[in-house]
Amino acid sequence: MDIKQLISQYNPDNPLELASTPPSAWYTNQDIAKHELNPVFSNNWLIAARCEQLQNTGDYVATEIAGQPIVLVKGESIKAFYNVCRHHAAQVMATGSGCTRALTCPYHAWSYKLDGSLAATPKFCLQSCPTKKRDNEFSWCARVPPAIIGNPPI
Ligand code: FES
Repeated sequence: MDIKQLISQYNPDNPLELASTPPSAWYTNQDIAKHELNPVFSNNWLIAARCEQLQNTGDYVATEIAGQPIVLVKGESIKAFYNVCRHHAAQVMATGSGCTRALTCPYHAWSYKLDGSLAATPKFCLQSCPTKKRDNEFSWCARVPPAIIGNPPI
């Protein structure tokens, strides 16, 4: 059954005496989940972590939001990054939480400071490495919009 057929099974305009819950398939169908991803999950406030998980310098939470790997880190402030290494796109921090001095990629051990800047690239020549030229241009991954960290809009 395609998504249009699934959606047509529910009439939100039914009078109260005919009202029902949406069909159960709405909660399990992958096409409906994909259809909801942008309008629902990309444009609304979502909980990524509890405040007490990010109180001390080095505290981090690695999670997934709307299908995107995200890591929140407490440095001088709390920042959120895509949890993707700028070298070859490995996931830098394993899903979970903890406290660390640096964010170190398990693949080739590139490490990042708590502010997201590149700290070390062991076994790689920094002088000839093209990513070194980007070092001062942007941090290791795109930053999540600052609004995700601040107070939610009312
Ligand atoms: S992919 Fe992260 S260090 Fe190579």
